[in-house]
Amino acid sequence: MTEFKQVATLDDVAPGTMYRVELDGKRILLANADGTIYACDEMCTHEDFSLALGALQGDCLKCSLHGSRFDLKTGRPLDEPADEDLAVYPVKVEGNKIFVALD
Ligand code: FES
Repeated sequence: MTEFKQVATLDDVAPGTMYRVELDGKRILLANADGTIYACDEMCTHEDFSLALGALQGDCLKCSLHGSRFDLKTGRPLDEPADEDLAVYPVKVEGNKIFVALD
């Protein structure tokens, strides 16, 4: 069963910004793409590098180490060198609260 847990509030993730949280020992990155909140693994699938240091470009997150962009809706890499999907997680927003489900 999908279990949503509160990880942050909307005040933590202004539009166009990202915010790191930990959920059940996992490092998750929240991204606010023009008002839509996405959740994904913090680390790039290409190398062990934090995507929190990357840049949000619309619904995409660009890794600042080698420039691969990931589609935040699907986790798919849009450019080389990354060729593995980024794990993305369902997000629910209720009032000011942001919930993420890991499974
Ligand atoms: S570490 Fe992210 S693209 Fe290489």
